[in-house]
Amino acid sequence: MAAYVMVGIVAWVGSYRTRCQNGVDVMRRVILGLTGASGAAYGVRALEMLAKLDDVESHLIVTTAGRLTIGLETDRSMVEVEGLADVVHPVRDISAGPASGSFRSAGMLVAPCSIRALSAIANSHSADLLVRAADVTLKERRPLVLMVREAPLHLGHLRLMSRVVEMGGIVFPPVPALYTCPDDLEEVVSHTAARALDLLGIDVDGMDRWTGLDGAAATD
Ligand SMILES: Cc1cc2nc3c(=O)[nH]c(=O)nc-3n(C[C@H](O)[C@H](O)[C@H](O)COP(=O)(O)O)c2cc1C
Repeated sequence: MAAYVMVGIVAWVGSYRTRCQNGVDVMRRVILGLTGASGAAYGVRALEMLAKLDDVESHLIVTTAGRLTIGLETDRSMVEVEGLADVVHPVRDISAGPASGSFRSAGMLVAPCSIRALSAIANSHSADLLVRAADVTLKERRPLVLMVREAPLHLGHLRLMSRVVEMGGIVFPPVPALYTCPDDLEEVVSHTAARALDLLGIDVDGMDRWTGLDGAAATD
């Protein structure tokens, strides 16, 4: 009897692992969450940058409010935005790969990140795929970058941010870096998106990097 139970357990674990991992080399997967905070352009730009990298597989999760702000703030349709991603996951699909720690990734960027999403992540309230994927990223000790956008901030917002940082997350508000002397908003958005991807170990061509007063802001 015990032998039958053991064989059953081994067979189940084997099939579960096959379903979850598929034997794919997955170290360069990036999960990108896009929520309904202002700044949809940051998420879209990060997706555009990832789309140019052959060795990165992007996994996109957009909230309902994120769909709204993409329509309001960008000149891109949802079809165009989703077309930039390698894989699109419905935010309600809690069975998708990024919901599991066994789905390996280089990390997750939420750009922009609403206070609603920040709050859910800070409290592990994993009721949708975006928050679950962020929670998994934290528990697996992978980089989680939250481009939180709100102004001004009250103490509750700040406490949520410090809670996420205490858990290992990175809070990266989309604050323009004016030391690069950007010509326009496009450059501001690109620099911020590239810096956020930098934190996931993703190198983006053409990013201005500070090299001291002599070199001024140099491009890679
Ligand atoms: C045009 C617009 C701009 C918004 N800007 C922000 C913002 O900057 N930060 C924020 O936390 N919420 C903002 N919100 C509110 C969020 O969209 C709202 O809290 C929503 O429930 C967030 O849901 P989500 O986290 O599922 O995307 C904005 C809403 C709209 C319509």
